[in-house]
Amino acid sequence: MQVILKQIGDCILRRCELSDIIPVMEINLRTLPEHYSDYFYESLLEELPEAFIVAEISGKIIGYIMCKMEHGFSNFKKLGFVKKGHVVSIAVIDEHRRKGFGSVLVNEALNGVKIRQCSELYLEVRCSNTDAVRLYEKLGFSIIQRLKAYYRDGEDAYVMAIDFTSGNYTSKSATNDSINLDSNK
Ligand code: COA
Repeated sequence: MQVILKQIGDCILRRCELSDIIPVMEINLRTLPEHYSDYFYESLLEELPEAFIVAEISGKIIGYIMCKMEHGFSNFKKLGFVKKGHVVSIAVIDEHRRKGFGSVLVNEALNGVKIRQCSELYLEVRCSNTDAVRLYEKLGFSIIQRLKAYYRDGEDAYVMAIDFTSGNYTSKSATNDSINLDSNK
């Protein structure tokens, strides 16, 4: 059964289904240097369907975000052990960028990991990927750490994270409303 989360104009945000994995993999191959096996996509969909979201226009997938769940040390609280979400990959195809779809995909993933009682969401991003860093900062993520030579080609990554338990979180994520969404929720 399709779970539609939001509609923005003619774009539908909904949970990914098994049959979406091939188009999602195609977008990933076209837009990012980090690729994964079909088994990996399927396992993320099985593990955390609440935060594997696709954006669709007229039956065509134009963007996706997929996450996993981990138990580990908090990015915010000293010595805290928490359940946290981890953004594995996000992309929007070229012709639909700068329309707010990346932001709503991240916001829906935030909701998804919160449904599963995660208290934080984090990700790695190439230090040179200023578009993505700006997007995450806009949604309330902070740069927590720099990982030296994290990527295969030797580039460093920023670890960026957001803490749902912090007072800042609610106000920053309110940018969701400022792009005039028609919510079905
Ligand atoms: N230049 C400057 N800022 C940009 C930008 C660009 N080209 N693209 C996004 N941003 C920032 C802006 O602050 C923007 O807000 P604004 O439009 O109000 O100024 C904010 O991010 C949100 O943009 P949005 O329209 O919601 O994002 P998007 O739909 O364009 O998707 C990505 C953003 C990163 C998902 C998209 O550029 C993409 O797919 N890139 C290739 C894959 C990738 O790098 N993924 C991230 C890996 S960690």
